[in-house]
Amino acid sequence: MNVLAKPADLEAAAPAGAFVEEVTSVQHYTDRLFKFRMTRPASFRFRSGEFVMIGLMIDGKPLYRAYSIASPSWDEELEFFSIKVPDGPLTSHLQGIKPGDAVLMKKKPTGTLVNDALIPGKRVYMFSTGTGIAPFASLIRDPDTYEKFDQVILTHTCREVAELKYGEELVEQTKNDPLIGELAAEKLVHFTSVTREDFPRKGRITDLIESGALFEHLGVPPLDPAIDRGMICGSMDMLRDTKALLEKAGLKEGANNKPAEFVVERAFVG
Ligand code: A2P
Repeated sequence: MNVLAKPADLEAAAPAGAFVEEVTSVQHYTDRLFKFRMTRPASFRFRSGEFVMIGLMIDGKPLYRAYSIASPSWDEELEFFSIKVPDGPLTSHLQGIKPGDAVLMKKKPTGTLVNDALIPGKRVYMFSTGTGIAPFASLIRDPDTYEKFDQVILTHTCREVAELKYGEELVEQTKNDPLIGELAAEKLVHFTSVTREDFPRKGRITDLIESGALFEHLGVPPLDPAIDRGMICGSMDMLRDTKALLEKAGLKEGANNKPAEFVVERAFVG
């Protein structure tokens, strides 16, 4: 099956409306998660937190899935954090990419997990599970996020400890980054928890919100619609349950054309 082509081969056959980009690095974290970086077209603009359609030519046809862009809007490359689904139509192939391979990207980014969809506040919570951390990897590297909020709390919950590694490396690199390191060191808090292995912080983020254990650990008051803002990214079930807790605390859902106290997005790929 002709799946992974080189950019020069694919350029001629590229579907209309798609960029053909070249993979620059790939890092595998576990048998379920990997990160890849690729070239960024000079004309491609996006807002930190948005997603784009990423694809491969499979049996002569393009196959795309939505991927949050994990790199910030100022980066010269594009970064993505992906799940590997053993028989997933796209990810079963995508997980085999190597530097030099071609990846398709549709030209128009979109999404609601952007700073513009939130009204100003004191503190922003970015609630993520699994690969749902990707849009926040973009936002925590964007100076606008720190301009808008005094405190940025990134929560990441995974089944296993090894799945936290991408986020741990990300936060460390962000705090040492020449551009935003100082701001991040002052304002960014990373909270991790694990559900299916022993770990100092155990449990689903929803349970930790409901019990108050999250706020106790962070040393902050419970959610308050006057000062707290939220962004949520994970599986459909996690989105639904976390959204219900934010609404219970009095926060209202916003959108690009109607900013409010929290926003929700889906970063699920198969
Ligand atoms: P659990 O291990 O209890 O299912 P996944 O990889 O399946 O997307 O899961 C990532 C993390 O999200 C896991 O720690 C999982 O916990 C958690 N999770 C799954 N469903 C929900 C939910 N409805 N609310 C909050 N967290 C959830």
